[in-house]
Amino acid sequence: KKVVLAYSGGLDTSIILKWLQETYGCEVVTFTADLGQGEELEPARKKAEMFGIKEIFVDDLREEFVRDYVFPMFRANAVYEGVYLLGTSIARPLIAKRQIEIARETGADAVAHGATGKGNDQVRFELAYYALNPDIKVIAPWREWDFVSRSDLIEFAEKHQIPVSKDKRGEAPFSVDANLLHSSSEGKVLEDPFEAPPEYVFQRTVSPEDAPDKATEITIGFEKGDAVSIDGKRMSPAEILTKLNALGRDNGIGRVDLVENRFVGMKSRGIYETPGGTILLPAHRAIESLTLDREAAHLKDQLMPRYAELIYNGFWFSPEREMLQALIDKSQEHVEGEVRLKLYKGNVIVTGRRSDKSLYADDLVTFEDDAGAYDQIDAKGFIRLNALRLRTLGKLRDK
Ligand code: ARG
Ligand code: SIN
Repeated sequence: KKVVLAYSGGLDTSIILKWLQETYGCEVVTFTADLGQGEELEPARKKAEMFGIKEIFVDDLREEFVRDYVFPMFRANAVYEGVYLLGTSIARPLIAKRQIEIARETGADAVAHGATGKGNDQVRFELAYYALNPDIKVIAPWREWDFVSRSDLIEFAEKHQIPVSKDKRGEAPFSVDANLLHSSSEGKVLEDPFEAPPEYVFQRTVSPEDAPDKATEITIGFEKGDAVSIDGKRMSPAEILTKLNALGRDNGIGRVDLVENRFVGMKSRGIYETPGGTILLPAHRAIESLTLDREAAHLKDQLMPRYAELIYNGFWFSPEREMLQALIDKSQEHVEGEVRLKLYKGNVIVTGRRSDKSLYADDLVTFEDDAGAYDQIDAKGFIRLNALRLRTLGKLRDK
């Protein structure tokens, strides 16, 4: 009947739009989200109008994205497989949520997305759709249509007067996804994991070689585990991330070249840029290092890979993610204060941290006179009892 399409305005989703109209003969509602991908959105509206679309949604979701998705994830220090800061993974649930809302508002019974049948994104979109509306119909054109090659797609586009730019006529250089947190490039020349990425893959950072020879010093302020200021200036979540992105860009920060395990089972090679996030992560860890109790810190660190995997696999709207989030958010109650950092040629170097809620006790740790704060004699019994089982074992072995 009626379908809400996640529409970027690009070639692929334009083909999908036309294909939906042709194949299903249904009314299409387009939804274009501003997640800080740095593209003009008005052209997407114009294009949708050209296709005769009557209900066109163009929403600025940048603040919601950073406040309700990126920042909660950074409270956990989430990193997938040791390197990936989950920039694409964390954006999909928000797009899906808004699509389901729009379906409700416009009386649509279906939603559609432009992810292929080989990737993670289809899983993330669809798990979120079903979690938020168990009865929704899902259309995934990439899994359904008969096009087998890029030239089939181009032919279809030309037949329907969908504008195809010169460089798209051949092959698009890579599959790209971007938002305020990151840009990713996959496919084509990057498919050989030993082939070094050409410089033109990088879209939002200077190369570390070209970054200034002088370090940039900044201070990030935190409250309840979220960044709230830079150099003493309070800003909104999206403003903070935008500012950190600019600082990261100029200093060549946040490039990664990785091979990751997709949820559907294959390995894939990607080049990602996460300038602001790559500054935020060690800064957050630094403020936690002062303000978190040891066991609280270690427990959340143990749970982190699990939490990251949930987000990667698309289970944002799941009871297990919400349970872990409650634990993580509870841990952040007193995570506040300031962290000093140097940004230098691709490196983020923590140089200081302070907090009114600090658990750091100089009277305990000092190498100087501690005026009785700590009795070193206590350590003798502590060590002897911890050694008890080791000595028992050792004696047995000696026999
Ligand atoms: N491999 C990354 C992930 O699964 C990025 C996917 C990027 N999506 C894209 N359409 N290029 O999160
Ligand atoms: C896609 O297949 O649409 C992009 C890659 C991914 O989702 O993992």
